[in-house]
Amino acid sequence: MSSEIESKVKIFAGTASEYLAKEIALEYGVDLGLAKLYRFNDGEMQPVINESIRGDYFFVVQSTFAPADNLMELLLMIDSARRASAEYITAVVPYFGYARQDRKDKPRVSIASKMVANLLTAAGADRVMTMDLHAPQIQGFFDIPVDHLESNTIFIPYLKELNLHDMTFASPDVGSTNRARILAQHFEKEMVIVDKHRKRPGEIAGMTLIGDVKGRNVILVDDIIDTATTLCNAASLLIDKGAKSVRAMCTHPVLSGNAIEKIDNSKLTELVVCNTIPLRQLSPKIKVLSVAPLFASAIRNMHEHKSISSLFIN
Ligand code: R5P
Repeated sequence: MSSEIESKVKIFAGTASEYLAKEIALEYGVDLGLAKLYRFNDGEMQPVINESIRGDYFFVVQSTFAPADNLMELLLMIDSARRASAEYITAVVPYFGYARQDRKDKPRVSIASKMVANLLTAAGADRVMTMDLHAPQIQGFFDIPVDHLESNTIFIPYLKELNLHDMTFASPDVGSTNRARILAQHFEKEMVIVDKHRKRPGEIAGMTLIGDVKGRNVILVDDIIDTATTLCNAASLLIDKGAKSVRAMCTHPVLSGNAIEKIDNSKLTELVVCNTIPLRQLSPKIKVLSVAPLFASAIRNMHEHKSISSLFIN
């Protein structure tokens, strides 16, 4: 990085995250960068950056949820920025897709998150800014800096506003134990674990509760809600075990298939998610909190060489 004073911050959007990029640019106080996505007749994409970015700090916001075109468009935007002589390129990926494939847990499978990390670097990203990776150690798949933002910065003030008594935090599987523990420690409350066993992706074999939730207002904590089976089944189990109410805080609303209907018909009082992925449909039970102010502050601190962890609530 050089001539930091001269280099301007330019924030661009991939089409899947345009709603969020606009909000981040507004919070930051710049206009969204001018770009347009063209398509060839066969569906091939060609993003075109319609203003000079020579010598600038280029930020492109795009979550990489399905379809894979979202990832491809992000890679093409990064490549365009590199070829247009941007000074420093940051891929802002609020939801980093393919993160659930982070190890070779059976023979002949891909470690897709490592491959996506390689793709972003090969395209020309100098830095990645993301939030609540499925496993924090995915940061190590990158040989460029990763700013890993935490949704607790957004969930904690919301929970404080709710002012719930008798709170207990719950992890809906062993993988989210750490997330639940951090919140439990912050609020000085107990935590319980729902031990989930899966048959295969998207199918749960069984759940067992470790801990006591009688008379408690339970807060389930997870990073991804996909089919909603994990959270809805966990909510039923917790209510059956005597919980007074069950809410869920979940960063990334993948919400595939009929997940929203499942939530509407579940024992959950409320599901709180971030807008890292846009909701396809509104639901009276789903509350969406914006990550835009946090990303805008992180972009500012990064550009001004200030701490990013100072933005977090511990
Ligand atoms: C899994 O390890 C994740 O943390 C989530 O619990 C999971 O992706 C949720 O999936 P679903 O909503 O399909 O049960």
